[in-house]
Amino acid sequence: MRDAAPVSTPPRVLPPNDPRQYDDLAGEWWRPDGAFAMLHWLARARAAMVPPASERDALLVDLGCGAGLLAPHLAGKGYRHIGVDLTRSALDQAAAHGVTVIQGDATAVPLADGCAAVVSAGELLEHVPNWRRAVAEACRLLRPGGLLVLDTLNDTLLARLVAVELGERLPTVPRGIHDPRLFVDARALVAECARHGVALRLRGVRPELGGTVAWLWRRWRGDGRPTRREPRIVPTRSTAVLYQGRGHRSG
Ligand SMILES: C[S@@+](CC[C@H](N)C(=O)[O-])C[C@H]1O[C@@H](n2cnc3c(N)ncnc32)[C@H](O)[C@@H]1O
Repeated sequence: MRDAAPVSTPPRVLPPNDPRQYDDLAGEWWRPDGAFAMLHWLARARAAMVPPASERDALLVDLGCGAGLLAPHLAGKGYRHIGVDLTRSALDQAAAHGVTVIQGDATAVPLADGCAAVVSAGELLEHVPNWRRAVAEACRLLRPGGLLVLDTLNDTLLARLVAVELGERLPTVPRGIHDPRLFVDARALVAECARHGVALRLRGVRPELGGTVAWLWRRWRGDGRPTRREPRIVPTRSTAVLYQGRGHRSG
C-alpha cells in the first residue's frame, strides 16, 4: 500500500486585527524584506524625532514595541528602552535586541506616572480598540517636559483605500492586519493629547515613491538577497493616510 500523502496545514484565517496574527508572523519581524518591512522604515523615521537623552538612563517607553524594531535606531542616544506589548513571541525578539520588555496592554501599563522622558507609540493606536485609553496612558507615563512620538493611520476613506485595499495586496503590509474601523482621526488625536497636557503636532508621511517601486521590483525578482537600501519615509502635505505626531507634555 502506498504511503498517504502528507497533509499540509492551511494557514489559519483570523479576524482582522486579531493579535494572534503577530504570533503567526513571528518569523517576519526582523526580515528586512519580510511582511513587516515597512515597520523598519517607519521605526527609522520615528527614531529621528527623538533627541539624545539629556540624562543618564532616561527611560524611553515603547508602547506596542513589537519585536523592538526601534532599538537599533536608538543606539547611542542614551535611553533605557522599555517595551510594552501584548505579544509574547514579539517581546522575546525585542528582548534579544536589548529591550527591557513588559507583557501587557498599552491601555493599562504597570509603570509609574511621569517615569518616562520619551513615550513612543509606533503603529499602535490603529490596533487598539480604545485608542483614547492608550493615549491617556502614554501621557500619564510622560514626565513634565517629556516627549511623545507616534505614527498611525488616519480614519479616512483614503487611508482605508491605500493602507488596506491597496497596501494589504502588496508585500509591504500583511493581509488582514488592520481593522479600518480602528483608524485614528487626526483631529480627535490632537484634541485627546491636549486634554492630557501634550501639544501634539502632526505631519503626513509616506514611503518615498522611487525607492518603494525599486524595493518592490527587487523583491518581486526575488534573487534571495536582501535589498540594498530600504525606502525612506518622507514628509507629505496631507495627513489623510499615514501621519506622525510629536509633542511635549506641559509642566
Ligand atoms: C503594527 S505592530 C507595531 C510594532 C512596533 N511598534 C513597530 O513599529 O515595529 C503593532 C504591535 O502592537 C501590539 N499591540 C496591539 N494592541 C496592543 C495593546 N492593546 N497593547 C499593547 N500592544 C498591543 C501588537 O502585538 C504588535 O506588536
